[in-house]
Amino acid sequence: MSASDTTAEPTHGVERIAAFTDEELHDLCEAADAAIIDGGGFGWVTPPGRHALERYFKGVLLVPERELFVARVGGRIVGSAQLVRPPRNNEAQAFAAQLMHSFIAPYARGHGLARLLTRRVEEGARALGYHVLNLDVRETQEAAIALYESMGYIRWGVHPTYARVGGRTIRGVFYYKPLQPGGRIA
Ligand SMILES: CC(C)(COP(=O)(O)OP(=O)(O)OC[C@H]1O[C@@H](n2cnc3c(N)ncnc32)[C@H](O)[C@@H]1OP(=O)(O)O)[C@@H](O)C(=O)NCCC(=O)NCCS
Repeated sequence: MSASDTTAEPTHGVERIAAFTDEELHDLCEAADAAIIDGGGFGWVTPPGRHALERYFKGVLLVPERELFVARVGGRIVGSAQLVRPPRNNEAQAFAAQLMHSFIAPYARGHGLARLLTRRVEEGARALGYHVLNLDVRETQEAAIALYESMGYIRWGVHPTYARVGGRTIRGVFYYKPLQPGGRIA
């Protein structure tokens, strides 16, 4: 299997989604559950339960600043990422968006879907006029770090007390990527 850029017929690939069918929401929660059990990376350390996950993803669709992108295999959702725009009051950082909560379920990894998901979010941010994409990740998320560094994300800092997992403090790594030619921000 290889990830394609299919958008018209979403069987394999990545697309932005603005509403779920029951099956899509079920698959997304299943994928998130599996990713959290495997070591997470997007906030939860222990699975919060199906009801909480459903409410969470329904809520994401309602937040005006958030856009949800999903990855599919054989038409079924296996992962997602969020493009988060700055709030309107943040005029000083109006040029920068955030890539958050990206994951692919363990059973769908290694086929290029996260790379495609990241590319789609970048394209979405660029199309909305953003000049910079920011993201941060736990230092222990080695696959994610390899992915983002291979895609040109620039490491600008390390937070020494970023997360607590299993009673252990974990550092966080912060990245940005210029989205426009020449890296200009205005
Ligand atoms: C990080 C993650 C999204 C990668 O998903 P994926 O679909 O398997 O990734 P891809 O197949 O698109 O791989 C793209 C690149 O990621 C890196 N990568 C992926 N899996 C890797 C692994 N196990 N070890 C090292 N690098 C890895 C590689 O650079 C790879 O490029 P390559 O195939 O040319 O070597 C997935 O492992 C995941 O969901 N992890 C937990 C959540 C997380 O860390 N999210 C990110 C921060 S919130």
